[in-house]
Amino acid sequence: MDAIDVIKQRRSVRVYNDAAIEPAKRRLLREYIAQCNSESDLNMQIVFDEASCLNSLPSRYTDFSGATNYIACIGKNSEDLFEKTGFYGEQIVLYAQSIGLNTCWVGSTFIRSLCNVDTKRGEKLVCIISIGYGDERSPQRRSHSISQISNCTEASPQWFRSGVEAALLAPASVKEPDVFFTLKGEEVECHCSKGQFAKVDLGIAKCHFSTASGHILAI
Ligand SMILES: Cc1cc2nc3c(=O)[nH]c(=O)nc-3n(C[C@H](O)[C@H](O)[C@H](O)COP(=O)(O)O)c2cc1C
Repeated sequence: MDAIDVIKQRRSVRVYNDAAIEPAKRRLLREYIAQCNSESDLNMQIVFDEASCLNSLPSRYTDFSGATNYIACIGKNSEDLFEKTGFYGEQIVLYAQSIGLNTCWVGSTFIRSLCNVDTKRGEKLVCIISIGYGDERSPQRRSHSISQISNCTEASPQWFRSGVEAALLAPASVKEPDVFFTLKGEEVECHCSKGQFAKVDLGIAKCHFSTASGHILAI
């Protein structure tokens, strides 16, 4: 499966079954996260077999069930923390998908104080990503058009169109598009709204765009 297939296959999964993540996959995930941390200077941590953080909210506030593993997205408080979290967290999401695991970004519907992680002074827990085996048959949200998130036209180069199409498939914290890609000459500019997790969404969208277009967008 190539990277574009992985992007197309991914969707948010909130209902997990009780199949444990195998030791070999745990090792692969730890190694991949360590690599992302060393590139990004984030301090993302994976927690296995911890049921309280995602499953303790009353069901009227959350759609999660059976979620016992998560990646805590932690980093030093800085201007680019949220965008970096989105960019590198989504690389982990796509890696997990490529080895047969399901995920969901979670910014609100979990109990932060029950998150079993080590946050150092000056660091912030931005959000978490649930991970495990679940049901991925639910339809992926694809309701937006290219023109809602970019200035792409018939005349735009194929690499830009491919990037924008992949960004349309990115998970996002809000229903309406909050990220916009503008091609100016050979340069791509990206903007996002001012919502609570808009910069995480921007980093995620940039990850999809970069993967599909081959044009890495700086953070
Ligand atoms: C930064 C961020 C925060 C999110 N927070 C939550 C959350 O608190 N609870 C939840 O159920 N889903 C959350 N989501 C998942 C979105 O609802 C989901 O990505 C969106 O509905 C699109 O569906 P898809 O990922 O299947 O394409 C979040 C997504 C992102 C990117």
